[in-house]
Amino acid sequence: MRTTYILSYRIKDSWKFARDNWGIALHRICSRTGSFPPALAHYFVVKYSRIGDVVLDPFSGKGTAPLEACLNGRIGIGNDLSPEAYVLTRAKVRPVPPRRVIEWIEYAKRKLNPSGYKVSEVDEDVRAFFSSYTLKQILAVRDLIEETEDEDLANFMKALMLGILHGPTKIHLSVKCSHSFSMAPEYVKRYVKKNGIEKPKRNVLECLRIKAERVFRDGIPAVKGRAYMEDARKLPIDDESVDLVVTSPPYFNMQTYAWDNWLRLWFLGYSYEEIAKRLFHTESVDRFKEFMEEVLREIYRVLRWNRAAIIVLGRLKLRKKLVDMAETTAPIAEKVGFSVAGIISDSIPKSNKYLWYLRDEDGVSKEVILELHKGEYRGQGVEIDWENARPLTVIREVMTT
Ligand SMILES: C[S@@+](CC[C@H](N)C(=O)[O-])C[C@H]1O[C@@H](n2cnc3c(N)ncnc32)[C@H](O)[C@@H]1O
Repeated sequence: MRTTYILSYRIKDSWKFARDNWGIALHRICSRTGSFPPALAHYFVVKYSRIGDVVLDPFSGKGTAPLEACLNGRIGIGNDLSPEAYVLTRAKVRPVPPRRVIEWIEYAKRKLNPSGYKVSEVDEDVRAFFSSYTLKQILAVRDLIEETEDEDLANFMKALMLGILHGPTKIHLSVKCSHSFSMAPEYVKRYVKKNGIEKPKRNVLECLRIKAERVFRDGIPAVKGRAYMEDARKLPIDDESVDLVVTSPPYFNMQTYAWDNWLRLWFLGYSYEEIAKRLFHTESVDRFKEFMEEVLREIYRVLRWNRAAIIVLGRLKLRKKLVDMAETTAPIAEKVGFSVAGIISDSIPKSNKYLWYLRDEDGVSKEVILELHKGEYRGQGVEIDWENARPLTVIREVMTT
């Protein structure tokens, strides 16, 4: 099959022309590996759907595409089978106003009783990251969140905690480590011992307050969306109820989402081993094809006629063999009933080293984006001016304590 390739930077108003770090602060509530940039999501949402449309990402990760949808007057729906991804997606499509967060923190100040907690009962891998002083507060905050009746508020507080749980700055609760992924405990134990590092004593509620202030800086979307934690092959979504799909499925076994988030999963009460069993990952091209056929059938089912689905995939090396996931997926999409409108080839910046240098012989070198149509899709004729591109529907509320 011959497919037309377009280079992303050859598209006149491509996301490649957005400034670094483009997108509102809510996008940055928590970093997570394997995410696409907000500008890419904005590009497809604005150009391939209209105000009032329903935009779905069945593998939403940290919720970038559904958030861009809600920010632009669409109804953003995100789904991800990993609990920490679900929490982040839900926080983005159903954020609570800043004053609710402040009220919660003030309430927590009165209610919290960290001295009642025993850190000796916590797994030693978790203890490797935190001082006892900080860990007791983390446990107390976790229980207080569980008692919170407003589910969107409880979820938002969880998302804020995920955003400060580990990382390199003074508002992160752990020893200095990566913010994007949870580091291996053995490595952290060795590092702490070898360098005589003292684990920081943080005021967790104060760190939460500062984090919230930063996250709310540019406002929250005025439109509320929905979040699910289901297998993308069985979505709880009605037939022909979605106007656009923008998504990126797992790249074989290039990312180990459960392991990469093991400490965040611990905070949420899950074991990463259990979550790893749930998520899809494979080294087999045949298994990937079977998975994609089921996923694409589900996308086809929920998509309305004459609409588009945008699937962000990778061109990668798998056990030294080059695999172009778009070329592998295109014939499956046609079998399911889609027409393949084209493939956009997008180079990954060197700064995203995590994807480039996973192993000696493996890694993702390029993003390849498949544009699929169900029926006759006609574009919206919109052009993006990246100098002035900002959200259509945003609520700003000053955060006062
Ligand atoms: C490439 S990532 C998506 C990242 C997302 N585009 C972002 O910007 O954050 C693929 C996602 O698929 C999720 N996943 C893996 N298997 C799944 C399944 N069977 N159903 C739904 N989600 C799944 C993983 O948790 C991961 O977040």
